[in-house]
Amino acid sequence: MDLTGKTAIVTGAASGIGKAIAQALHAHGARIAAIDLDGAGAERVGAALGGFGARVDVTGEAALTRFINKVERTLGPVDIYVSNAGIGVTDGPGWGAGDAPNASWQACWDVNVMASVYAARHLARPMAARGGHFLITASAAGLLSQIGDAPYSATKAAAVAFAESLAITHGDEGLVVHCLCPEGVRTPLVEGVEGGAQGLSGYIEADEVAKAVLAAMAEKRFLITTHPNTVQYAAHKGADRDRWVAGMRKLRRQVMAANHGRPM
Ligand SMILES: NC(=O)c1ccc[n+]([C@@H]2O[C@H](COP(=O)([O-])OP(=O)(O)OC[C@H]3O[C@@H](n4cnc5c(N)ncnc54)[C@H](O)[C@@H]3O)[C@@H](O)[C@H]2O)c1
Repeated sequence: MDLTGKTAIVTGAASGIGKAIAQALHAHGARIAAIDLDGAGAERVGAALGGFGARVDVTGEAALTRFINKVERTLGPVDIYVSNAGIGVTDGPGWGAGDAPNASWQACWDVNVMASVYAARHLARPMAARGGHFLITASAAGLLSQIGDAPYSATKAAAVAFAESLAITHGDEGLVVHCLCPEGVRTPLVEGVEGGAQGLSGYIEADEVAKAVLAAMAEKRFLITTHPNTVQYAAHKGADRDRWVAGMRKLRRQVMAANHGRPM
């Protein structure tokens, strides 16, 4: 894919999957504007990849919009937006599905869902007019649930639904929407919870995710998975929800037995 002259904004770009996607986009010619809470990290990544970076909290619509406007003034219209910043919180220490405090639920909603809404509100129509790509990093947890993290599961399912709404609403106008749903990827996000069900298919490296993203962009493909069985598991879930829930309960028991009573 030749992205020479294209401008890309990547959020959560200082680390992990976001950094790898930014590097891959730049390797194909794009200039990168990098966003992260880790301002120094974002600045380093942006400067190294033909653009610039800044500390922006993606949950603040005004600050996010200011950054987008600055990118458009200095680098040019945004052709690619990668809404990738995300957080998980876990249901621990009690491990009940409703145990995480309200603040954790709100934080997941704000980062994992509303950040994409803010960017889309500002960019979906103008990007559609120039055939831009809008990628949301959801998760396989949004398709299949994350055992031990109800706020993450619920908000990543909402992220998948929002990506679908974007594609359905703005696809005819020309917007190319991608919904990235990885299983386990070795990044700081999974440090300390490596024993969880997200790692059962094995952990891959962030640059493998970036390769899958570039391939899907070239094909204009909506759903991007990174592990061989994700789509098949989702098909089983769609075909028989009760059987799937029973299977997930069994999986939770197995993970807890292997994990000193913790579900992740
Ligand atoms: N690692 C995995 O196994 C995995 C699997 C599926 C989906 N994901 C998703 O991939 C995305 C990237 O995660 P990662 O694994 O690379 O983790 P990571 O922790 O390495 O990177 C996430 C980055 O997002 C930034 N960030 C968090 N909140 C922010 C905010 N409010 N504003 C700006 N930046 C913010 C963090 O500072 C961090 O640099 C997330 O959306 C995550 O949910 C990860």
